[in-house]
Amino acid sequence: MPAMSLFPHTDSAALTERAPAKVNLTLRVLGRREDGYHELSSVVAFAGTGDRLSLIPGEALSLTLDGPGADSLEGDDDNLVLRAARALADRVPGLALGRFHLIKRLPVAAGLGGGSSDAAAALRLLARANGLAFDDPRLHEAAIATGSDVPACFYGRACLMQGRGEDITPLVLPRFGAVLVNPRVPVSTAEVFRLLAIPPGMRRGEVASPPSGRDDVLDWLRAEPNDLEPPARALAPVLNEVESALEATTGALLVRMSGSGATMFALYADCRAAAHAAKMVSAVHPHWWVKSTVLG
Ligand code: C5P
Repeated sequence: MPAMSLFPHTDSAALTERAPAKVNLTLRVLGRREDGYHELSSVVAFAGTGDRLSLIPGEALSLTLDGPGADSLEGDDDNLVLRAARALADRVPGLALGRFHLIKRLPVAAGLGGGSSDAAAALRLLARANGLAFDDPRLHEAAIATGSDVPACFYGRACLMQGRGEDITPLVLPRFGAVLVNPRVPVSTAEVFRLLAIPPGMRRGEVASPPSGRDDVLDWLRAEPNDLEPPARALAPVLNEVESALEATTGALLVRMSGSGATMFALYADCRAAAHAAKMVSAVHPHWWVKSTVLG
């Protein structure tokens, strides 16, 4: 009989992937499609911080949870990791599945794409376990079938996300220090989009592609807002407090909400400035989730 490991996911048979936080540096809503989804143009970056997902391939599909955010997901049979695995299994005959283990660190319903990034990590793990090339179109189809942010998270590096979320163009962005702040108020993405009240079929214009130099990028980012901020503020007025707290930190270059909220971020010249700013915010708001990181 083979030896049993007490820590199955530290086993050498386990494959592991990071599931980094996704940050929407800009988010323009360009219209609403006939199918009800909104047409977006968003510059997306990924943080050094995030969840971690591992897979022991070859067994029946299952998911166990650990980490500070695990309680909020316990008992959810429709977790995005499982949904992504099922979406890929529907498209790849004979796909070997397995036992997933998620270390959940990111806040949920927070605009950081935590669930989408976990789903994307699941697809990368299944691709590795089954010898699928990362550009296999079935991976992309499974990603968009799982959620609008999953294709960007599957790519996992700075990109311009367009359409409903399915069109991904790689971008070269300068690295910034960043602080992410979530006031621990969950916000429903569907509700935020609904408050925009854009009629199906309506288009609202185009957005120019972002430049690449650091100063030019900052000027461009400052001019391209997150269109979901006004409705998110109506649902979670605490965002005004989060914004003030970040604006009061030393060296904040840009303060903005990510995704549909309620996480806000500030950009800094480097990690040291971000770490100092995170300490300032935590000292005044010890109950908020505050994380300093790098974005790129
Ligand atoms: O695709 P996903 O399930 O992550 O989207 C959650 C909700 O956000 C959708 O049900 C929809 O209401 C809204 N949404 C949208 N347009 C997008 C992405 C999301 O209207 N491009």
